[in-house]
Amino acid sequence: MNILLVGSGGREHALAWKIAASPLVTRLVAAPGNPGMAAQAELRAVSATDVDGLVALAREIAADLVVIGPESAVDAGLGDALEAAGIPCFGPSAAAGQLESSKAFTKAFCDRHGLPTSAYAVCESADEAKAALDRFEAPYVIKADGLAAGKGVVIAHERAEAEAAIDDAFGGRFGAAGARVVLEEFLDGEIGSLFALCDGETSMLFGWAQDHKRAFDGEQGPNTGGMGAYSPAPVFTPELVEQIRTRLVEPAFAGIAADGSPYRGVLFVELMATRTGPKLVEFNVRFGDPECQVLMLRLESDLVPYLQACAKGTLHEMPAPKWRDEPAVCVVLAAKGYPGTPVAGGVIRGLDSDLAEAAVVFHAGTRREADGSLRAAGGRVLNVCARGPDLKTALDRAYAAVDKIDFPDGFCRRDIGWRALAR
Ligand code: GLY
Repeated sequence: MNILLVGSGGREHALAWKIAASPLVTRLVAAPGNPGMAAQAELRAVSATDVDGLVALAREIAADLVVIGPESAVDAGLGDALEAAGIPCFGPSAAAGQLESSKAFTKAFCDRHGLPTSAYAVCESADEAKAALDRFEAPYVIKADGLAAGKGVVIAHERAEAEAAIDDAFGGRFGAAGARVVLEEFLDGEIGSLFALCDGETSMLFGWAQDHKRAFDGEQGPNTGGMGAYSPAPVFTPELVEQIRTRLVEPAFAGIAADGSPYRGVLFVELMATRTGPKLVEFNVRFGDPECQVLMLRLESDLVPYLQACAKGTLHEMPAPKWRDEPAVCVVLAAKGYPGTPVAGGVIRGLDSDLAEAAVVFHAGTRREADGSLRAAGGRVLNVCARGPDLKTALDRAYAAVDKIDFPDGFCRRDIGWRALAR
């Protein structure tokens, strides 16, 4: 098979690593890819939102399957354009992608189809949002309505901080994504990330993990796209997984099909396990980053037949995926300043050394210079991942690898997996 993989982050590097290991694959092309992905794929300089360029590239390489990594490509309509061109695609239509691209859409969707989620208010102006704060208690949850690369969420403990976040969003901090703001009731509980595949009709659970959203140890600092992840996460008891399947996953796929946009691809259910059961925090229309990295380390089955079955409507023929019992972890090395303005261009050395047993490093935001050196080119820069017979060993291996990487302009959290270790 020839596969075109779209995207350039750590999630896509992990997908490339797993796809390239499939005996079904003859050619893997990544667009635009990143320097790390060059080990698994041919890189082509077409951006993830250049829909015409990607359709042309898929045709040129006679792609049997296009795998969409990031939400930006879904939102740009790549899934729709590929369907129109008759090219099988793993990734939903832009209409189904509104489950991620508009938080207001998703809240209305939950109301319409009876999915449990937090109380909310959709606000069109700063004055309206500040007045609506009266209906909530601290901590206040303020979200930009649109896509903001995981950075459009502020949890404010004081009203003044909430009002400043509202002014920031309407002042243009998130561009068009912040032209509308959603206020939400703060949900108390433990957060989790669950993934489910759908081919338009049949759905299947596809693993779960826990992410660390705050920038600094002890769940301090601003919200990020995710500073680390581990799987399995003990919060996912069999009872909770069953509740998520029946209360969130199946109603979501049935609801989006009833609304006229049957879902093809992976749905990422970010949920809070509360005392009254799981409640939806957000849907995302792609794998989580860095959750995907740990899922790919744990997935024993070949990934490619699952991706293909979603694209072709044959998921009912597939068995449940097999997962390794061994835990997997991911530690994100970010450039200092992230999730604000990251230090650009920091030199990275030491990746070629023998890092640690069972450690794998995925590139998330790197650039290869003409002289061969590697430099940071983004907020989240590297994903240092490892497996082990238990979570502590997996973490020890990942941090041993982190300590061998020389990236003076970087930082990471040192407490990934703390909730599971504390149990
Ligand atoms: N790690 C959360 C996300 O991918 O949005």
